[in-house]
Amino acid sequence: MLSSALTQNTHTAAVTYEMATFETGDARDDILSGLLSTQKYLNPKYFYDQRGSELFEAITRTSEYYPTRTERRLLQRHAADIANWCRSDAIMLEPGSGSCEKVRLLLEAIHPQLYVPMDISGEFLRQSALKLAAEYPWLKVRAICSDFSGQSLLPELDTDSQKVVFYPGSTIGNMSPEQALIFLQRLSKDMQPGDLLILGVDLRKDPEILNAAYNDAQGITAEFNLNILNHVNQITGGDFNVADFSHQAFFNETDSRIEMHLVSRKEQVVHCAGRDLHFSRGERIHTENSYKYSLEEISELAANAGFLRRESWLDDGALFSVNLLEISG
Ligand code: AVJ
Repeated sequence: MLSSALTQNTHTAAVTYEMATFETGDARDDILSGLLSTQKYLNPKYFYDQRGSELFEAITRTSEYYPTRTERRLLQRHAADIANWCRSDAIMLEPGSGSCEKVRLLLEAIHPQLYVPMDISGEFLRQSALKLAAEYPWLKVRAICSDFSGQSLLPELDTDSQKVVFYPGSTIGNMSPEQALIFLQRLSKDMQPGDLLILGVDLRKDPEILNAAYNDAQGITAEFNLNILNHVNQITGGDFNVADFSHQAFFNETDSRIEMHLVSRKEQVVHCAGRDLHFSRGERIHTENSYKYSLEEISELAANAGFLRRESWLDDGALFSVNLLEISG
């Protein structure tokens, strides 16, 4: 069991920064166990080194990748509708807050008494929190650096204030429906009736639109996918040659998910963390799933975790959804 011991605490006017203790699980072993499996795989979290984060930003600016801009528009357009569900004592919490960019679209409307961004990347989190607080002088910010490996996803707040959890970006789509349910259950066990979850979820749609979004014409998604090998090399001291693999992404209709893979262009042996990894020509490393839901499936998932889907806001093309889920009384 992990405590949330304060190992560091800096204070400016309205920002506190806390460091939760981390699981000692080793990235090197984690990567190796995936690459030694019969079906080789990597956890998509390894996409996001410095270069990977930049490439993801570039993906969100391609014409094919609709989720980010569609969700931003929905949050902008419906900020007041969302705020209607929030009380004046609302505390906003955002697991995996990153740059705290999207919450800006809601802050003025909701005017929470506290914003709690949480992220695994400590220094980036601290900088983002300071920048946000400088832009919103009225806002109290309590930044918590955490890897979410402990029992609770949310910190103990010791108040009856309304919790409003913000989880945008269809980040939940990276989890299988079973994992997503466990995630929502971990959230809801720290929430009370009337507490809210604002959940961004990408919707199931014409496979052509989906396939294009993960195969942009500029090849940025391909570069993003391949870059995971550079990050793996850096962590494991491996010798993956990016040029010996190719990007593959397709919509799997049966499982309603985009799958991304890296396909070996030739028979080869790659050295990684002291092991020889054999690849046959055409063999794949599975790097990501991105599940696409219907509104009915979102309702069902929510209900199984103790939430009621109260509202959903969609764009005209029904590409993306912002959902307001409430803990049922
Ligand atoms: C950040 C996980 C929502 O699944 O669409 C974008 C990541 N992968 N292009 C997604 C991603 C390839 C993205 N998520």
